[in-house]
Amino acid sequence: MDAGKAEYVARELEAYAHWFAAPDPSASGHLLALTLFAECGDVARIARDTTSAFLRGVVTGDVVYDARLAVSELVGNVVNHAVPDRSRSRPGGCRRIDVTYKLYPKWFFIGVKDEDSTPPLLPMGDALCPELVGELTEAVLPDSGRGLMITQQIAAAVWWTPEEGGGKTVWCRFDLDGYRPR
Ligand SMILES: Nc1ncnc2c1ncn2[C@@H]1O[C@H](COP(=O)(O)OP(=O)(O)OP(=O)(O)O)[C@@H](O)[C@H]1O
Ligand SMILES: [Mg+2]
Repeated sequence: MDAGKAEYVARELEAYAHWFAAPDPSASGHLLALTLFAECGDVARIARDTTSAFLRGVVTGDVVYDARLAVSELVGNVVNHAVPDRSRSRPGGCRRIDVTYKLYPKWFFIGVKDEDSTPPLLPMGDALCPELVGELTEAVLPDSGRGLMITQQIAAAVWWTPEEGGGKTVWCRFDLDGYRPR
């Protein structure tokens, strides 16, 4: 393995270890959990504003804008697509959304948990060749399936994990030290 690849793998493993562990408030990590209900309206805006408030004074610049966009897309997906598992659904009940923020000096993780065990459809690679886009009319460009693609473009990584007892969390990670593996 060449040195660049070895360094990349080491950084990914380090990021994974931090994502997997709950941040220790006495050390350098910070954690925030926010619970929303999809039917309450304005949930994407609340998630965006909470993201800014959580990062205020710690992280500046593009990461804040990108994180606001990512959380908006992930929360919007729960509102638009999540159908709670039968064991979790209550007649007339609201769908629960749990947003988790984990902040370390080198990484910022956002997790959006819902009660639907169906995985998100994460795009594999580029849906459209960038050279072709200019030639295409708007009519043939997709008008859905863009949110996760955009999130993949702005975050260092996007993935999902199943939850014990049903549901899932969709995660994304922002690297705060300017290192982007793309
Ligand atoms: N939280 C979720 N629960 C269930 N399915 C999801 C969830 N998030 C995404 N999906 C599935 O993944 C697909 C892709 O999501 P994506 O955000 O990329 O596109 P979209 O929401 O369909 O459209 P757009 O974001 O462009 O308005 C969705 O159409 C949906 O089938
Ligand atoms: Mg979407």
